[in-house]
Amino acid sequence: MNVLTTLLALRLAGATAIGSRTIHERKPASQGSWVRHDLIGQGPRQEHSVTSIDSDVYIIGGVAYDGSGVPETLNRVEFYDTVDESWHIAAPLPVQLNHGNSATVDGKIYVLGALSDGMDWVALNNSYVYQPFNDTWTAITSMPNGTARGSSAVGAYNGKVFLAGGMTILQAYQGGHQDSVSMVSSYDTLTEEWNTDYPPLPAPRQHVGGAVVGSHFYVVGGREHGIHQFHDTTYALDLENPVEWKQMAPLPTARGSLACAAVGWKIYCFGGEGNRKNPQQIFDQTDVYDTETDSWETLTPMEVPRHGTGAVVIGKAVYIPGGGVTSAFYPSGVVDAYVVNA
Ligand SMILES: *[C@@H]1O[C@H](CO)[C@@H](O)[C@H](O)[C@H]1NC(C)=O
Ligand SMILES: *[C@@H]1O[C@H](CO)[C@@H](O)[C@H](O)[C@H]1NC(C)=O
Ligand SMILES: *[C@@H]1O[C@H](CO)[C@@H](O)[C@H](O)[C@H]1NC(C)=O
Repeated sequence: MNVLTTLLALRLAGATAIGSRTIHERKPASQGSWVRHDLIGQGPRQEHSVTSIDSDVYIIGGVAYDGSGVPETLNRVEFYDTVDESWHIAAPLPVQLNHGNSATVDGKIYVLGALSDGMDWVALNNSYVYQPFNDTWTAITSMPNGTARGSSAVGAYNGKVFLAGGMTILQAYQGGHQDSVSMVSSYDTLTEEWNTDYPPLPAPRQHVGGAVVGSHFYVVGGREHGIHQFHDTTYALDLENPVEWKQMAPLPTARGSLACAAVGWKIYCFGGEGNRKNPQQIFDQTDVYDTETDSWETLTPMEVPRHGTGAVVIGKAVYIPGGGVTSAFYPSGVVDAYVVNA
């Protein structure tokens, strides 16, 4: 350990050593703590979607890769029971998919579009609902023609699931083509209808964070086209009156493939891709956005920096299962949770 690392480690432990003195610092009121959980039961994965039903954290589809050959797109679904702290296998998806757009409404999981398997991942319009009581995936109305995509920001509000941005192609190899879109759509879980009559995002985004607080849908960071254009933007749309996206305070560091989730009126965002200061190009940053003050604060970083996963809240814990530990593919099975001190 060099001196800086030692100081940082001590600071994270709540104390700073200066010469022979040790000064105990008061942590910022909003500082929480990290808790490590069991590794993902069926092994490492990334580019899966993450949601919850009651106290269970679900991971859906995504990619497995052992470092050789091609990344394998999965139909596997499993969940972590946060009460008995164990992993369980759920019914697989009808198709293999990655970068799925998922949310839970009224105790059911919706998967609304994704990217396909193979090496040239293309948009799937496939949409499904998962009923936990009979462990069944059922096809629902496909995304309308021209709106199929994966890797969108996802938010649920008043029985509807909103999708902002996303992408329709990701060629999963060096120099492969990627696009990004700015369209916004919603799926009404009661009427089973799609609506695409919303203002587009001010700029295209994919691998982008999303969360709903109150009636506002926040869309955070993300990238535009390939793996090089990372952004720090925060956009917000009032879903009660969806006429224009507002530009809010920017994320402290531009990044894509970050995992965001809301606890109360705050949005916690973790990790991501696009860090030019480290060889893995992955961020360990934990940043929290206060929707009441329109400001960001930086909190204790991740112990295992990751990208290409999602975050979901159970009680005061934000669970982050798996994700990639280097840019592009190198999935991890690590599961941790940031426990909010509020
Ligand atoms: C599971 O329940 C849903 C909703 O009632 C139903 O549509 C589906 O057919 C059921 N599946 C099985 C295998 O029973
Ligand atoms: C979807 O739109 C494309 C052009 O955007 C058109 O060529 C195609 O016929 C449409 N398909 C359906 C099923 O409407
Ligand atoms: C969904 O995608 C499939 C396969 O590309 C296509 O056959 C079907 O027409 C699409 N459905 C809609 C509503 O566009």
